[in-house]
This record gives sequence, C-alpha cells and structure tokens, in this order.
Amino acid sequence: MQHFLDINTTPADQLRGMIDKALAMKQARAGLPKGAGDADQPLADRMVALIFEKPSTRTRVSFDVGVRQMGGQTMVLSGADMQLGHGETIADTARVLSRYVDMIMIRTFEEATLLEMAEYATVPVINGLTNRTHPCQIMADILTYEEHRGPITGKKVVWSGDGNNVFHSFVHAAQKFNFDLTFTGPQPLDPEAGIVAEARAAGANIVIERDPMKAVEGADLVVTDTWVSMHDPASAKERRHNQLRGYQVNDTLMARAKSDALFMHCLPAHREDEVTSSVMDGPHSVIFDEAENRLHAQKAVMRWCLGV
Ligand code: CP
Ligand code: NVA
Repeated sequence: MQHFLDINTTPADQLRGMIDKALAMKQARAGLPKGAGDADQPLADRMVALIFEKPSTRTRVSFDVGVRQMGGQTMVLSGADMQLGHGETIADTARVLSRYVDMIMIRTFEEATLLEMAEYATVPVINGLTNRTHPCQIMADILTYEEHRGPITGKKVVWSGDGNNVFHSFVHAAQKFNFDLTFTGPQPLDPEAGIVAEARAAGANIVIERDPMKAVEGADLVVTDTWVSMHDPASAKERRHNQLRGYQVNDTLMARAKSDALFMHCLPAHREDEVTSSVMDGPHSVIFDEAENRLHAQKAVMRWCLGV
C-alpha cells in the first residue's frame, strides 16, 4: 500500500502510469451511465473513508462516485462531527479508522495533519487538499491537458493570480512532468519560496514574471484560482482583491497566449473576479472536462494506493 500525499514525493514514472491508467479507464466506460460499475470492479469489498474538514463539491462527489464505480463502498465524514474535531488526536483517529476502512481520503487545513494521519494509518491516505497543496486536482489537470492537446512535457503553463495550494501542486508537477511553469502575481502573494527552490533544484523551469501580459506570451495553458482560499481569513478579501485585480484572466490576457491555448480553473470560480465569464464559457475553456477528470484521475490514484 502507498499513500498519495503529494506529487513531488511520488516517482515520475508512477505518476505517468496513473495518468495513462486514468485515460484508459475513462475511455473504457465511455457512454455508460454514471452509476454503472467498471467491468473489473477493482475496489470490490473495499471500504473508503472520505473526511472533510473544509467544504467540497467536486472532491466529495468525485471520490464517492469513483469508489462506487470501482465496486467499493464509501463513508463521507465531516471533521466537525468526528471526535477529531473535539480533541481526539490525529494519530489515534488514524489508528482507529485503519481498523474499519481500507483507505482514507482527507481534506484538511494544516499539512501536518495529513502527514500525521499518514504516519499512523496502516491503510493508504490520500491528500484531498491542504492549505499547502492539492495534488489530486493537478493530476486531473494533466489528464485534461493531455486529452485535448497530447503530452504536456515541454509545454508552457502560466498561472495568473494567488500563489496558493493549487499552484504549489503545479510547481511539484512541473518537476515531475517536465513542463515550463510561469507564475504571474503580486510579490506578497508569491508561492512558498521553498517549494519553488526545491523544484528548481530538481531541474524544473519555474519563472516569476510580474507583468501578466508578458507572462502569458506563448502559453499553451493558462490557469487561475480563487483570490481568497478557504484557509485565508475573510478579512483579507479586500486587500487581496486590490492586489490581484491586474491579474484577472480575461479576453485581453487570453489573446496574448497561443491561439490554441487552453484555460483551466479548479473551481469553484468567482466569475468576474479572478476570471471573466467570457473566458470561463469561451473557446479556450476546458473547465468542466477538468472537473469531470477529477473522477477519472482519482480512480487511478486509488488503484495505485491499493495496488489493485
Ligand atoms: N476543485 C475542488 O477541489 O473543488 P471542491 O472544493 O468542490 O472539492
Ligand atoms: N485554493 C482553493 C482551492 C479550492 C478547491 C482553496 O483552497 O480554497
């Protein structure tokens, strides 16, 4: 069994294997109703706990549906309703849950919570988002890019906006899938310097360019995300909006990217803040394929974790 905690801690050949598997599994069930089981039922007799300490639509539904399609069963748990939210330690929770279920997916705040869960669980643990990273999202994004445009290796990905958890996982992916990654955003909202430095040391080409119009030139993929993440204090909203206004993804910005560039957003989006509806619903956008691919990518991740 293996944990799926982050992209930078997973070997490149295994990440590649998961993307290829996800695409094959998606193609194999083309045209089937959503509730139809996969032919091979790789998670038959498996029970999976899905723990949420933060809100979720895509992660919650895609993991739940994915387990069921593979023949397994799920239980969706809210952190606040568990003893975990009332003082029981993460280590004890991990040891107890490992006696009941075959795999744990957790969405939480601090990365330390995820790591402690993984340390004490005797079943695989999957990162469903922390304040620091969101690896399942970027597996879906790579699947989506490659489905539309072929291999992502050597392509130019541009992130405009907040250097947040989703962007950090893009940095990790740049070093594993060998694409060029440009960040454009205001200096106070830069990604964590240590994450960028580690990726660069591993050979990744990560560029920071303050001018969004320059940054996006020649882009194959343009990505953004909310300006205020779930872990950011609500009081930061006005300041962040002022800092980020110039980094909105709109038609003017997209016109500077390659003519066949794709646009992605992990969703949920705040239309007319970080991105205009004209881009969300425009010809470059693949946001709903991206959301669907959470399902297919995570099914491959879960199979990898369980070795099935
Ligand atoms: N993109 C994503 O993780 O969405 P949810 O917060 O709805 O799970
Ligand atoms: N950066 C966002 C992603 C939501 C899927 C957040 O953490 O709130």
